Amino acid sequence: MTKLKIGICGWGNVATGLYEQLICGNELYSEWELVCIGARRDNPRCNPGNTKIVRDIFAVPDEDIDVLVELIGGVETARELILKALNAGKHVVTANKAVIYEHGEELIEVAITNNVKILFESAVCAGTPVVKMLSNDLGANKISKVAGMLNGTTNFILSNMEEGANYENVLQEAQEKGYAEPDPSLDVNGTDAAHKIGILASLAFNSGLPASKFHIEGIEDITSQDFKYAHEFNLTVKHLAVAQLQDHGIELRSHPVMLSKESSLAGLKGVRNGIQINTDLLGEFQVAGSGAGRESTASGLISDLIALSKNQDIDPMRYPDFSKKPSIIDFNELSFKYYVYLEVKDESGVLALISKIFAEHKISFDKVIQKDQLDNGNVPMVIFTDPVIESEMQIALKDLKSNSVIHNSKIIRIEDS
Ligand code: HSE
Repeated sequence: MTKLKIGICGWGNVATGLYEQLICGNELYSEWELVCIGARRDNPRCNPGNTKIVRDIFAVPDEDIDVLVELIGGVETARELILKALNAGKHVVTANKAVIYEHGEELIEVAITNNVKILFESAVCAGTPVVKMLSNDLGANKISKVAGMLNGTTNFILSNMEEGANYENVLQEAQEKGYAEPDPSLDVNGTDAAHKIGILASLAFNSGLPASKFHIEGIEDITSQDFKYAHEFNLTVKHLAVAQLQDHGIELRSHPVMLSKESSLAGLKGVRNGIQINTDLLGEFQVAGSGAGRESTASGLISDLIALSKNQDIDPMRYPDFSKKPSIIDFNELSFKYYVYLEVKDESGVLALISKIFAEHKISFDKVIQKDQLDNGNVPMVIFTDPVIESEMQIALKDLKSNSVIHNSKIIRIEDS
């Protein structure tokens, strides 16, 4: 290993988590030097000792460092800081999936031009290894699918809701444990998982950074009732992100799904992430581990620093070839089985009306259950459908909602796994 001089930018939960690992006395880091920390303000939860503090984070690239670790978060300021570091001939390590997703092509191009590296292992699944694995270790394989639960906060919320916990309380706990983003709406609305699958799709399929627009949906509408009905059919609810190679492009999506309780992903509880990768030579395999939190993120950041401190002639990762971008398939063309939840007026003829609308759109029922009357006098109806094209399902839902006897509706797509 060669001596590596490090400057950290940012001094929040993730940065202090990295600092605590770097000073813990592990012999692995004995040849590294933490030159400075770029921090606009102190963090009462961590004392940086004698390490030089630079209040202007944009001055950190001017310090005598080899690598800038960008942990300020956000998009535009982070982009500017990373560009300044790369143009100054400094390597960059970042945990920032939003900036890699939004500006990855530009940042990688600038890194290549300046003959330095930008590494972002911890931007996806924190320390659970997937980024360098996709770009290096699977180099001999043709990848056909990458799918996974890529957001620790939503898996923490959903798996606790499954045990009966309340959504708001668990979200607050996820924030307290340092899993959630500073703006937790990015976790629960599916954006964070979308950024991550966009990054993985770029590594597996050369899709762009940013990718063209694709379907993103969060967990805000999932209720404990959905788990109850799912359990009756040995299913559970998870948030899944999928990138899959098809004949005419890439299927890319990030949304809640129901999947079999027997599947390996369903068994991953709490803050764990799980990724399934299908390849030609290795077949299907899975990686699972903690996907958020300061220790897990520090693990991913340090794996990038180790990669940089090794012989500089060895490429720590192979970047995608963005000149060969595949097209993203329109989500409306995809086919799913659906869980459909309807709250309907308790009167005769309603089931016949629903059957008629579904028949008009050639949607056939796999199972139908009518539940006991709710306190508001309405009746919940739960329908599991056979496979149908998304656009047909959306039109059928619109038709259903235009009838005054249908008070509420929701769908969750069912994932075969
Ligand atoms: N907020 C993210 C998550 C952190 O919950 O997965 C790790 O990227």
